[in-house]
Amino acid sequence: METANKLASDVRDLALAERGKRKIEWANQHMPVLQLIRKQFIKEQPLKGIRMSACLHVTSETANLAITLRDGGADLVVCASNPLSTQDEVAASLAKDYNIPTFAIKGEDNETYYNHITAALDHQPQITLDDGADLVTQLLTKKKDYVRHVIGGTEETTTGVIRLRAMAKDGTLKYPIIAVNDALTKHLFDNRYGTGQSTLDGILRATNLLIAGLKVVIAGYGWCGRGVAMRAKGLGADVIVTEVNPVRALEATMDGFRVMPMADAAKIGDIFITVTGNKSVLAAEHFEHMKNGAVMCNSGHFNVEIDISALEKIAIARKPARPFVDEFATKDGRKLYLLGDGRLINLAAAEGHPASVMDMSFANQALSVEYLIKHASELQPQVYPVPEPIDRQIAKLKLESMHVQVDKLTADQEHYLASWDEGT
Ligand SMILES: NC(=O)c1ccc[n+]([C@@H]2O[C@H](COP(=O)([O-])OP(=O)(O)OC[C@H]3O[C@@H](n4cnc5c(N)ncnc54)[C@H](O)[C@@H]3O)[C@@H](O)[C@H]2O)c1
Repeated sequence: METANKLASDVRDLALAERGKRKIEWANQHMPVLQLIRKQFIKEQPLKGIRMSACLHVTSETANLAITLRDGGADLVVCASNPLSTQDEVAASLAKDYNIPTFAIKGEDNETYYNHITAALDHQPQITLDDGADLVTQLLTKKKDYVRHVIGGTEETTTGVIRLRAMAKDGTLKYPIIAVNDALTKHLFDNRYGTGQSTLDGILRATNLLIAGLKVVIAGYGWCGRGVAMRAKGLGADVIVTEVNPVRALEATMDGFRVMPMADAAKIGDIFITVTGNKSVLAAEHFEHMKNGAVMCNSGHFNVEIDISALEKIAIARKPARPFVDEFATKDGRKLYLLGDGRLINLAAAEGHPASVMDMSFANQALSVEYLIKHASELQPQVYPVPEPIDRQIAKLKLESMHVQVDKLTADQEHYLASWDEGT
């Protein structure tokens, strides 16, 4: 039994640890690729003595990544990447059972959220792991002295990668970052199947609504939006998509969904789900036209997709209706519902992505961290893709774990594909 690191951590209640440990072990069973990496890390100790700070959603899957990094020799601390996404029992177990200092409390206020990020930065990391780029942003703006220790970092999500590319463009970024989100074995599966399933799971747990027959409006037909649309359709919803990108709008149309501007969708939707990574996608001009009983939620990274202050302005009263459901009574007698305070609904009201999809995302994280330690000196302060061999290796290992076999190119086929004059 490992000893508690009670002093270093700030979690809700260490007494929750036993429940957290069971959750972590359950998730581990569904993360075979990460298990293989962990075995290799235990043997080779590639992260030995490297200080790392990980600002990630503190879930049972993240715990398995943290344990893998620790077992590879890393000196790791963990903090939350969102005030509502922490699983308190998991945070307690990480601190108590696995001796990984953890700073995360579900429902923490903004001040505590940033204090926790500061605590993680005071570890003076050599590697940063981010989900949304809050850790890097705080480091580069509030803790500039510590930047000299950092050799590299990783970023988990689309919004974080966008922020980091903007930093690299204007010269603010000071060290190389690997965009884990952009690996094929990450966004094709985590963003699509993970967000697709867990977003609907969050809505169902919060509302217990029957989705069949409802008009579900999905803003954004990116990797996440495609997954959410696919799962909503599977539950019998009449799915409507809103987009700003003509190619994505065309794709949604040919996938069989109705596409229209939000101004029109606002009038007919029963449930609205934003997954754009953009701000004010649902705003005052939409709330005005929504039907009585309309439900709104967000699965994009930040809680800016639904303009909550505009919603508060048109409301005469706001009260909780159920856990993670707030009712806004409008002056004209309607009731509009906001889920999870506009934060990622799959993490606020459900448990985030299932472990088997996070297996690939976090395998990318672990192997990218190892890669950074070996290659950081050759890299510039830019955003880099996950090296292709890592991506392919993860796909191979995942297929093996699922007992799926694939064909191999024959020498003749390889030659055919590599030449320009065959087949003429
Ligand atoms: N909930 C989760 O667990 C989870 C998981 C992965 C990613 N994310 C987050 O979800 C968001 C979307 O990620 P993605 O990978 O799908 O990104 P993406 O870039 O593939 O897709 C975003 C889509 O939104 C569209 N869009 C932008 N502004 C819009 C507007 N005003 N109205 C309608 N459409 C608009 C874009 O054209 C694009 O097609 C990001 O913030 C990402 O960080 C959340």
